[in-house]
Amino acid sequence: MNVLVKAPAKINLALRVGAPRPDGFHPLDTVFTALDLADDVLATTADGLTMSIEGRGEDLPVDESNLVMKAARALQRLAVDKGQCNAEELGAHIHITKRIPVAGGMAGGSADAAGTLVALNELWGVGAEQEELLELAADLGSDVPFALFGGVAHGTGRGELLTPVGTPDDTKQSWIVLVNSEGLSTPAVFKAFDELFADAETPANTSALRDAIAIGDNHALAEHMINDLQPVAEHLRPDLAELFAQLNDLDGVYKVMLSGSGPSIVLLVEDDRSDQLATELGEQLPNLDVVQTTGPARGAHVVHEEDHN
Ligand code: C5P
Repeated sequence: MNVLVKAPAKINLALRVGAPRPDGFHPLDTVFTALDLADDVLATTADGLTMSIEGRGEDLPVDESNLVMKAARALQRLAVDKGQCNAEELGAHIHITKRIPVAGGMAGGSADAAGTLVALNELWGVGAEQEELLELAADLGSDVPFALFGGVAHGTGRGELLTPVGTPDDTKQSWIVLVNSEGLSTPAVFKAFDELFADAETPANTSALRDAIAIGDNHALAEHMINDLQPVAEHLRPDLAELFAQLNDLDGVYKVMLSGSGPSIVLLVEDDRSDQLATELGEQLPNLDVVQTTGPARGAHVVHEEDHN
């Protein structure tokens, strides 16, 4: 049997950050939107638990250190706790077709983990409810719950406590992502945030942005988009500051912003200018990978299921 799941990338429309909590994580007030840019997670019945990756990130480890394997183990434990079977009986091969840029602040690894939870829940017939999967997801990483949740959501806590944000039915955002291959590690960016903004306290709130989303106006949305980690990334990588200045002058762009903890950059663009802008940016910035996508999109969900028996 096999199960194919689509798992979306995310963008933080706003990312407000406070001073670290006793557990070291930073309290966030954030608004996520899920993108049509998605990885495929194909789970096939097999002996043991293995995984493979094609597309972007082919050189990533495929051992137990991969978040996909951790997600699979977490679901195995849940199935055993539900008294369904022994862990040894639950085998699968998980194949990831990766389109989401690796280490670019778009939660690609988190999407794969969320997709794995959904695919194996189906493949193994665990019957876990969304709430149970969200709980497992939060233990795997701060961005994993949203990859399950999808749509547009308000995130608090360390980003794992989610509430849906209503959008008009015809809401469409067109995005161009400039993928930066030179990494900025998430912990390093948060650590530098603490040094630069020692008086941060609680995160600023995102209510004005959520109001703008409810109206469905991209101009209003752009006005309230903000990422507290952007000045940090610019401090760590002055070349990014130069790039932001250059991009802000482009015609047809509502907003240019750092994606998550970076180093990728997202541009909210006019839909009918997206193709042309992507071509121009590709020519002007040959060192960056230019990816076009749209949103909002559904959270990780089954798209195909096949029983060979
Ligand atoms: O939760 P996740 O494993 O994705 O977090 C990776 C790292 O990012 C954490 O170890 C921490 O250094 C940082 N982080 C944080 N506050 C958050 C989310 C992540 O400090 N809210």
